[in-house]
Amino acid sequence: MKRKWWHDKVAYQIYPKSFCDSNGDGIGDIPGIISRLDYLKDLGVDIIWLSPCYQSPLADEGYDISDYYKIDPRFGTMEDMERLIAEVKARGMYLLMDLVVNHCSDEHEWFRKACEDPDGKYGGYFYLRKKTEGELPTNWRSYFGGPVWDDLPGTDRQYLHVFHKKQPDLNWENPCLREEVYENMNWWLEKGLAGFRVDAIINIKKALPFRSYEPDREDGLCSIGAMLEEAEGIGEFLGEMRDRTFRKYDAFSVGEVFHEKDEEIADFIGEDGYFSSMFDFSAAVCGASEKGVYDAKPVTPDDYRRCCFEAQRRVGETGFLSNIIENHDQPRGVSRYIPAGEVSPESKKMLAALNFMLRGIPFIYQGQELGMENMPFSSLEEIDDIATKDEYRIALDAGLSADEAFRAVVEYSRDNARTPMQWSDAGNAGFTTGTPWLRVNPDYTTINAAAQMNDPDSVRSFYRELIALRKHPAYKETIVYGALEPVWEDRHNLMAYYRRGDRTLLVIGNYQTGEQSVELPSGFRKVLLNNYHGMAAEGRVLRLYGYQLLILEM
Ligand code: GLC
Ligand code: CA
Repeated sequence: MKRKWWHDKVAYQIYPKSFCDSNGDGIGDIPGIISRLDYLKDLGVDIIWLSPCYQSPLADEGYDISDYYKIDPRFGTMEDMERLIAEVKARGMYLLMDLVVNHCSDEHEWFRKACEDPDGKYGGYFYLRKKTEGELPTNWRSYFGGPVWDDLPGTDRQYLHVFHKKQPDLNWENPCLREEVYENMNWWLEKGLAGFRVDAIINIKKALPFRSYEPDREDGLCSIGAMLEEAEGIGEFLGEMRDRTFRKYDAFSVGEVFHEKDEEIADFIGEDGYFSSMFDFSAAVCGASEKGVYDAKPVTPDDYRRCCFEAQRRVGETGFLSNIIENHDQPRGVSRYIPAGEVSPESKKMLAALNFMLRGIPFIYQGQELGMENMPFSSLEEIDDIATKDEYRIALDAGLSADEAFRAVVEYSRDNARTPMQWSDAGNAGFTTGTPWLRVNPDYTTINAAAQMNDPDSVRSFYRELIALRKHPAYKETIVYGALEPVWEDRHNLMAYYRRGDRTLLVIGNYQTGEQSVELPSGFRKVLLNNYHGMAAEGRVLRLYGYQLLILEM
């Protein structure tokens, strides 16, 4: 495989609204991010992905863009953005922005012009259909609930939105629209971006002509997935995008791709793929139910292992997955993948290493390096996330009581990951001097960056060691390019794998509170990382403490 500049990197996702507020308005901003770059450099981060900070009404927290060429004043100015790009570069790091082009905002000029003249140029940028009373063009259910069709204001048309009604889908069949997108991407790449994280991209190709599918819930609607499964030819758009943008700049691109088929993996992330990489969401979607979030099953340690290994097997050495335990759309990984009551600094470190040592590019979501946990929300009024509000309604419709519905959906709320970053034990965790837009998790007095930076045994210090290990000249080749080989898969609550390159490493996590032994096939040379001091018993048979994690050089 041809070596690429991004193969050996470590990435970090910033959710701007919740990262660091510089001016006391309660909303994180770009000057705030700049003030924390040294913190990220110290951690060992190379690539920073910024969730959207373009001009936006923030109906979906910036994933609804009303001007792709402007920074929203709440996040700062274009000068701030240019300064951020320069400051990131000066530290030898790389900046990615979010590319949100399946849809724009209904406050985008294109959409306003489409309303004025649905038959004109900009009407062609969207999917519009003539309105018929009492009937919708199709029965597709939007990801955020309800039908995907809404009236195009002031006209006799309806427009398609697979997400919120303030996020009208852009018509990718239209070459003029595609030109606008590429032009904007190149404009940003010229400014010095290293690439993009590509939002919701599998939705850009619709199955045409539109038709309804078998309803899958009482509401008579069907999931978007039914339509996407029939859509063919997304590769033409993605290949064109790659050739017209990324390729010219040797940019890094990571796709938010779901449900790809095995035979498509090489097209997506192979040597000449549409993207450099794509996220592995297999654990994130594990236990999901067609019925709604209220019906989701918890992910057990054995499930977690199976998800990771399946994804690794499917991709093999075809390309590089981007590995995550959480992002801004998921609850906190430690609260989800570690059984309730067993969340501790040790188990957090174990989960970190099991994920981090997989083949691929590790992505850390802000606060993950501190072991930030889910928010103890006590009522729906504390939730801002539109997806959670919709799931709550679905749970009520399914017959759950208000309390049951709240408890079922809150665990999966995207707001768990969106609470402000915990910098210190000062008021509001040092995030803002004002009133934060979303309440700070009360555990900030113990879980915060300042305390962890001074503690060699903290979760953050462990992440720092993991990153340093990935960059260590002796192990880098094996950790970045080595093959992954699962071991002891028949054992319960144990996740272990070899990484084989010019060295052989063995990663072992005892995924339970009780001790557990493993018999090594050979002796080991060195313990490279251990989340405990020592082991319960050492030798060819290792006895591991509860939630012990070891990285051994064999
Ligand atoms: C992606 C984003 C999510 C957003 C959605 C619509 O899934 O990660 O936050 O709501 O796309 O843009
Ligand atoms: Ca601010």
